[in-house]
Amino acid sequence: MAILVTGGAGYIGSHTVVELLENNFDVVVVDDFSNSHPEVLNRIKEITGREFRFYEQNLMDKAKLEKVFAENSIDAVIHFAGFKAVGESVEKPLDYYYNNLTSTLLLYDVMRNNGVKKLVFTSSATVYGLNNKSPLTEDLPLSTTNPYGSTKLMIEQILQDLYVSDDEWSIALLRYFNPIGAHESGRIGESPNGIPNNLMPYITQVAFGKLEQLSVFGDDYDTVDGTGVRDYIHVVDLAKGHVKALEKHCSRRGVEAYNLGTGQGYSVLQLVEAFEKVNSVEIPYQITGRRSGDVAVCYADVSKASLILNWKTEKNIEDMCRDSWKWQSKNPEGYR
Ligand code: WQD
Repeated sequence: MAILVTGGAGYIGSHTVVELLENNFDVVVVDDFSNSHPEVLNRIKEITGREFRFYEQNLMDKAKLEKVFAENSIDAVIHFAGFKAVGESVEKPLDYYYNNLTSTLLLYDVMRNNGVKKLVFTSSATVYGLNNKSPLTEDLPLSTTNPYGSTKLMIEQILQDLYVSDDEWSIALLRYFNPIGAHESGRIGESPNGIPNNLMPYITQVAFGKLEQLSVFGDDYDTVDGTGVRDYIHVVDLAKGHVKALEKHCSRRGVEAYNLGTGQGYSVLQLVEAFEKVNSVEIPYQITGRRSGDVAVCYADVSKASLILNWKTEKNIEDMCRDSWKWQSKNPEGYR
């Protein structure tokens, strides 16, 4: 029986495929390389020494997707594939709704047609919106402030409705906080196209000299030093959380949301300081205005994932900074 991983060549997808293979799962990857690179597949094989099946396609061709299920004995699906840039979603909402929702609906229809009803869906802490107070628990009211976040919230609702219609489904909704870092080998990591939107890849490119200085988006928030506080989680811990969700949750029916974070918040300047100290590099920065849509503080209550999934993070902020830098240093142009 195999695990189908959509978007398995992406940043979090590739790290999860490594953990699945190392836990002796058979894996089938579907990816169209719209936000990843073929070289990732070679790196996964290099790290694990294991083979897996791969289909270069997106999820919008239903016939091709049916073929994947016809050619493989799929037991469960981890669904990563989708557009994920907050700012881009505001500029191109129709692209985001069309791609993220249509591909997801097609996937779930093909899963149902093939009797595959175990699913791990990659959601995001962005569904907690701007009005909830951290630490965030899974039962809080949900809202979104951008089309990307809205596609995540809509898909969570679709899956709740799907379960109401058919209680054979077993669904884990994994709400990520802020994934950073890279596999300790330095062979896979985050490879953003163009100027990074997110903090850590921007920091690593400043450290490497590809970018001149970091703009800190506001230092007038009600936080320890006025800069935004987030729950940064090592991508390998996040990947292990997916394996636990597959093993622990998908043997029981129902739909459950889980926060995948560390439970601890760090400010922008605290992360910069940790990065500089661990890697003996300097990160020049300037304070600029707030970025619209940013929340001051966002970090997880992780007790539910710890209790039910028997999962908690093992890596600390120094590990995240060290591994991010190792990836950047060894791969200045990412996978290109
Ligand atoms: C982190 C902090 C910024 C860049 C987003 C999505 C979320 C998930 C992760 C997909 C904030 C500050 C950032 C910079 C800065 N994505 N910052 N200068 O916005 O918390 O979460 O990415 O699942 O859904 O919303 O992450 O890394 O962009 O920002 O000062 O150049 O760093 O203001 O406080 P964010 P981020």
